[in-house]
Amino acid sequence: MALKLKIIVGSTRPGRIGPQVAAWVDKLAREQNSFDVELVDLAEVGLPLLDEPNHPRAQDYQHEHTKKWAATIDEGDAYIFVTPEYDGFPPAALVNAIQALALEWNRKPAAVVSYGFATGGMRSMQELRGLLTNVNVMPLATSVGLPFVYDMLGEDGVLRAPEPVNEAAAAMFAEITAWGEALKPTRAAA
Ligand SMILES: Cc1cc2nc3c(=O)[nH]c(=O)nc-3n(C[C@H](O)[C@H](O)[C@H](O)COP(=O)(O)O)c2cc1C
Repeated sequence: MALKLKIIVGSTRPGRIGPQVAAWVDKLAREQNSFDVELVDLAEVGLPLLDEPNHPRAQDYQHEHTKKWAATIDEGDAYIFVTPEYDGFPPAALVNAIQALALEWNRKPAAVVSYGFATGGMRSMQELRGLLTNVNVMPLATSVGLPFVYDMLGEDGVLRAPEPVNEAAAAMFAEITAWGEALKPTRAAA
């Protein structure tokens, strides 16, 4: 069965470019013809700041928005986080969405597509990878950074990446497949 791949748009602010970056990732993911892809936009998910009384490991969620978010993430076999860099960090909305859950992330791989100016959002990517290890996600080394992302965005709002970036993305998808397939049986056994 095809791996269920959730592409998570991490920015939520009005005027953001996260959806354009995610549309590029989504297109490439669907072209692989090997994933069951869902684009998940945190602006649409609309999670408030953590408002659950119990630790997420208890999975005793009180609010419909958390239950819905938990079901979306639980269904995934692998994730790609599309994240900007805000002051060297991933957006608070993305950190909040990760911390709202625990076991739903367990033993699954995740790649990061980061974007920004000169750094390509790499500081944000590294911080995010650190957080992911603490919810027992396997953060993949073959993640992709997009420096000077505005130069890649056409006036039509479509992102066109240079060839080396597309090659990095291809390597990322191969790694998602390898780790996604490898980790699946470990969850069934748990
Ligand atoms: C609060 C804030 C902090 C930012 N900090 C950084 C940064 O540390 N590094 C960087 O390359 N760009 C930074 N930027 C610029 C973003 O890369 C750029 O605004 C990008 O469009 C943000 O992604 P978004 O449009 O999806 O929100 C920052 C932007 C904002 C709004």
